Amino acid sequence: MTKPLAKSCIAELEQLFDVRSIVNAADPDQVMAEGGDTIRAIAGGKVSAAMMEKLPRLEIIANEGVGVDTTDVPAAKARGIAVTNTPDVLNIAVAELAVGLMLALARTLPEADRYVRDGEWAKGLFPLRSQLHGKTVGILGLGRIGKEIAGRLEGFGMNIVYFGRQEQPGQPYRYFGDLVEMAKASDWLVVIAPGGKATERIVSQAVIEALGPKGRLVNVARGSLVDQEALIEALASGQLGGAALDVFEQEPGVPPALLALSNVVVSPHMGSRTEEAREAMGRLVIDNLVAHFEGRPLPSRVA
Ligand code: DGY
Repeated sequence: MTKPLAKSCIAELEQLFDVRSIVNAADPDQVMAEGGDTIRAIAGGKVSAAMMEKLPRLEIIANEGVGVDTTDVPAAKARGIAVTNTPDVLNIAVAELAVGLMLALARTLPEADRYVRDGEWAKGLFPLRSQLHGKTVGILGLGRIGKEIAGRLEGFGMNIVYFGRQEQPGQPYRYFGDLVEMAKASDWLVVIAPGGKATERIVSQAVIEALGPKGRLVNVARGSLVDQEALIEALASGQLGGAALDVFEQEPGVPPALLALSNVVVSPHMGSRTEEAREAMGRLVIDNLVAHFEGRPLPSRVA
């Protein structure tokens, strides 16, 4: 186990398997100390090609999370190691966080909280902020989670548009095939596409500039999708209005220059960190492992 699963899931996993906790899956010594040459399954993820070398009997990597970018999937495929993920069960948790971050940024909730605690309220009224209602939000990645976000934002009276590899038939939202053009047309840009090479820094300096001084960026996907340096510069110079970020390029590191900015709201990669989602994710990890060892089709195989 390379990530702590939900408590009840760990208990179940321990009934089914001989479980070793490998907290730092990047450390070959720890993997060997935990019996690397006997390990047949990983519950969690974060398995590099070098680590696979240390695990000669590895058959399956049951990733806890929908994103499998922390595991070298092509290397696993080449070795015939199955890889599974945990899609769908975290859609609502991530969508709720995205909306929460938008409200936190639009109404500057962290600042409002400090205002009351620091006794500022007695000295004057809180500055006026803006609403979500009537604004246009561009969704970068109208997949399973993107659709959950869009549905919730419709409820807020926002105009939804989206960018993706191709137009999705039957969608009520306007499609853009060009991300810069969508950013120009949007007040908000919500990033919720998979990480990896294909989307690396897709939110480029040009996209950030197109969003403009009143524009706001929300990232609940992966830090790799955004040019973080360009983002910090744009936020500091006022070329971009604000950002709400749950993910960063080098987690858990967050650049001090970003934290020094008042037009930024941050959270610690917690999109799927609800009890409900983590319990369901842990269950799916176990279901995949059990299916594998019983020789049944894997419920959520990615490779
Ligand atoms: C996911 O499921 O990919 C979440 O970001 C947790 O890593």
